[in-house]
Amino acid sequence: MALIMSQDIQRRIQIEKIKKIRQQEEEGRKRISNIKYKIAIMSGKGGVGKSFITANLGLALATLGKKVIILDSDVHGPSIPKLLGLHGRSMSVGPNGLIPLEADLGVKVVSVDFLMPNEESALIWRGPMKTSLIRELLAKVDWGRQDFMLIDLPPGTGDEPLTVVQLIKDINGSIIVTIPSDLSRIVVKKAITFCRRLKVNIIGVIENMSGFTCPESGKTYYIMGKGAGEKICKEMDVNFLGNIPLDPRISETIDQGKPFLTTYPNIEVSKKIVNIAEWIIKYLKAQENVN
Ligand SMILES: Nc1ncnc2c1ncn2[C@@H]1O[C@H](COP(=O)(O)OP(=O)(O)OP(=O)(O)O)[C@@H](O)[C@H]1O
Ligand SMILES: [Mg+2]
Repeated sequence: MALIMSQDIQRRIQIEKIKKIRQQEEEGRKRISNIKYKIAIMSGKGGVGKSFITANLGLALATLGKKVIILDSDVHGPSIPKLLGLHGRSMSVGPNGLIPLEADLGVKVVSVDFLMPNEESALIWRGPMKTSLIRELLAKVDWGRQDFMLIDLPPGTGDEPLTVVQLIKDINGSIIVTIPSDLSRIVVKKAITFCRRLKVNIIGVIENMSGFTCPESGKTYYIMGKGAGEKICKEMDVNFLGNIPLDPRISETIDQGKPFLTTYPNIEVSKKIVNIAEWIIKYLKAQENVN
């Protein structure tokens, strides 16, 4: 008898827990409902420049007059704050929830980095904790009214990016970042399959780290390979958004805690990112007219 009762109590506690989770998910979706376009930036592989592209695409959209908020959902390696000069800061609480931090050009940032007491904390998050962290961020931040939400997804195509995509639900599209090596073909295919399975519209692929032009000789060296991104886009029938060259000034600005695009607005990398941002705005408008 006592055993049956305790099982019943446990079941009820479980049901209450699930109810609370669902309520929090709903609250999160309600809070981000005033954001017009939600774009996930992903790759099937780590270290290809996903966070660099997310942060600077945010700045590029802002230079084009758009209101942008970036969600850094990479619990293990939250790097958006560093890329935008906000590392080490914390979010404060306002009347409507946690207040996002503001980078150059008014770009807003929400990152798990702002909730961590120190750099080592990121290492101890486990699966369910990571999910609840993102769920809580969505439900407790004052997201406001924005034109764009850029979501820097955790690397790969496993459980973590899947959870974030499922929590946000109405993502308008994804941008896949890759490098120009032949190995990246498998990686891009994985990311495309991930999106197609989850019915996430693929906006296109950006090839990063494609070629380094020596400032003295003017000669371009294709250190990471050449053209794989564009080729795979043709094969898989997705848009190729462009390539971003290797530039040592990128790591220089990160080390200095400065945002790249606003520090070097007139160099090739920045111009290419702004071109891609313009293309994305046109693409999303055209999509709206079709749907
Ligand atoms: N075009 C580029 N030229 C030179 N360095 C670059 C370029 N793009 C990115 N980097 C550098 O490469 C490193 C990896 O970039 P980033 O952190 O954006 O990759 P990521 O895909 O987000 O990695 P992770 O999978 O760990 O999240 C960073 O140190 C960044 O400064
Ligand atoms: Mg990253």
